[in-house]
Amino acid sequence: MQLRSAQWYTGDQRNSYIHRAWMRRGLPADAFSRPQIAIANTASDLTPCNSHLDEVARAVADGVHTAGGVPLVLPVVSLGETQVRPTAMLWRNMAAMATEEMLRANPVDGAVLLGGCDKTIPSLLMAAASVDIPSVVLPGGPMLTGTFRGQPLGCGTDVWRLSEEVRAGTLSPEGFTLSESSMIRSRGHCNTMGTASTMAVVAEALGTVMPGVAGTPAPDSRLLEAAHATGRLAVEMVLADRRPSTFLTRASFENAIVALAAVGGSTNAVVHLLAIAGRLGVELDLDDFERVGARVPVLADLQPAGRFLMDDLHRAGGLLALLNEVRDLLDPSALTVTGQPLVSHLNGATVYDPEVIRPRERPLMAEGGIRALRGNLAPSGAVIKPAAASPHLMRHSGPAVVFDSIEDFRARIDDPDLEVDASSVLVLRGCGPKGYPGMPEVANMPLPKKLLEAGVRDMVRVCDGRMSGTAYGTVVLHVSPEAAAGGPLAKVRTGDIITLDVEARRIDVEVPEAELAAREPSRAMLDALPRPRRGWQKLYIEHVMQADTGADLDFLVGSSGSEVTRESH
Ligand code: FES
Repeated sequence: MQLRSAQWYTGDQRNSYIHRAWMRRGLPADAFSRPQIAIANTASDLTPCNSHLDEVARAVADGVHTAGGVPLVLPVVSLGETQVRPTAMLWRNMAAMATEEMLRANPVDGAVLLGGCDKTIPSLLMAAASVDIPSVVLPGGPMLTGTFRGQPLGCGTDVWRLSEEVRAGTLSPEGFTLSESSMIRSRGHCNTMGTASTMAVVAEALGTVMPGVAGTPAPDSRLLEAAHATGRLAVEMVLADRRPSTFLTRASFENAIVALAAVGGSTNAVVHLLAIAGRLGVELDLDDFERVGARVPVLADLQPAGRFLMDDLHRAGGLLALLNEVRDLLDPSALTVTGQPLVSHLNGATVYDPEVIRPRERPLMAEGGIRALRGNLAPSGAVIKPAAASPHLMRHSGPAVVFDSIEDFRARIDDPDLEVDASSVLVLRGCGPKGYPGMPEVANMPLPKKLLEAGVRDMVRVCDGRMSGTAYGTVVLHVSPEAAAGGPLAKVRTGDIITLDVEARRIDVEVPEAELAAREPSRAMLDALPRPRRGWQKLYIEHVMQADTGADLDFLVGSSGSEVTRESH
C-alpha cells in the first residue's frame, strides 16, 4: 500500500531530500518506507494526572519499533482539570483543533493517542475523527486508592464530601488539610468513576481503545505491557487502513452509551460523545442517551454513585467483565481498533468480585444512564444523572433562589439572611458555553451553610453549566439554550416555582407562557458576562454551540480528512 508519509519521503527531488535529511538523525534509510506513527502525548507537569505519560510513550515506541514502524512523539496541548482556569472545557476544542492540524500537517500515517485527565481523551478523539488517520487511544489509567485515618479515600468525590463536612462542622479545617497528601496516592488520574475514568471506559466501549486496557491503574506494570501492544496495533491499523471513519458508526456510539450507563458514568460524557459524533457525521442526540441508556442497569458499585474505586473495578475483572453482564444490550455489529467486534472481546471475561461489578439480578440501580429533560426552562434539553441524585427529589416543586454568576453565588450562599430552605431550588445561570465562557463544573452548587448545619444533604439545583463527574446531587445541568444565549433560564426570578419531574422528563418554571415571553433577561446576569475582545476566548464565544449538540465550535464539526497540504519549499 502507499503510505501517506510517502508523499513527503518518496522520490529523488529536492523536497524529498529535505524531508528525509532533517528526520534522518541516525535512522536507517528504509525507515522512510515504514509506517510513521505519531504518539500524541498529553504528558505535562501541569497536568499531574498525565505526568507519567512520557514513560508510557516509551513503551508505545518500543511496540511500534517491534512491529516495523517508526515512532514519533508529538507533544500536544494538555489540559489539567484542577489547574487550568477559567475551566479546562474552554480549551477542549482548542486542544482538538491543534492536535488535528498537527496530525494533518506532519508526515504521519497513524497515531497513538495518550490521554487521561478529563478533557484529554475527548480532545484527542475529536482530532483523530476529523483528520481520519488510523488511531488508537491509550488511557493513562487511574491512581491507586488513597487512605486517610484508616479509611479509603477516593480522589474527587471525597473532596466534595470532606469539604461539606467542614462546612457542617463535623470535620476540622486541620483534618481537612491533613487529608490532602493522602488523596493523591500515586501517578494517574482520579480514581472515582469521574470524567477521566468515564471517558477511558467509554472510549473502549466505543471501540477506540485496545479491548481490556481501559481502567488499568497508572502504576500497574500491565499498563506498560498494554502500551507496547498498542504501539504494535497502531502499525497493524495503518497497514489495514483502519481509520476512524471505517469502523466508528452509530452502533459504536450506542455501545458507548450502554457502557456509560452500566458504569454510572459522568454526565460530561454526554457533551464529549456528542462532539465526537459530530466530527464523524454520526447522527446522535440527547434522546439517544435516554433511549439507549435508560434500560441499562448500573452494575459498577463505584463512587460517586457507589462504594468502590477504579482499582477495585480492575481487580474485579474490569470493563470487559462488566460489559459481558450487559452483552445482550450491546450492538454486535460495532467494530473496534482490532478490526473485530467489541462483543467478540467479551468471551471469557469474568467477574471476580460481584460486590464491585454487580450481577444483573442485583444491580446498584435498576435503570442507569442519563435522563434528558425538556420543558419551558430547557426547550433544547437538559440532563440529570439519577444515579447521583436523591430519590425523594426526583419529583419536586419549590421556589427558585437565583444567582446571576458564580461570584454572586459565592457572595450570598452562606448569608444567614438568605431566604432559602430545603424545598428551595437553587438556580445558577450565566455558566453555559458562551456565558462563562467554557461551561465550567459549577452546577453542583454547595448547599447553604445553615441548611447543611440543619442536616440537609441535597437540594434540587438547576444550571446551564456542567458538574464534575465525581460529584453527586439532584442537579439539572447543561440547560440549553443557556441563559447567555437567550435561554429562558435568563428570565427566572427568585420566588418563581420550579418543578422537576424526572419520570415525566420535565423541568419547568411555573410562570404563564405570555408572562415569561414578556420578561427581559436578567440585567445582572448580562452585566456579569465576560466580553473578551481578542484571542481564543473571543473566537470561542462567537462560534461555540450549545451543550445539547456537544459544545463544539460550529466550524469544527465534521472532518477535513488527511489530505496532504501544499509544499512550501
Ligand atoms: Fe485529572 Fe480528575 S483532575 S482526572
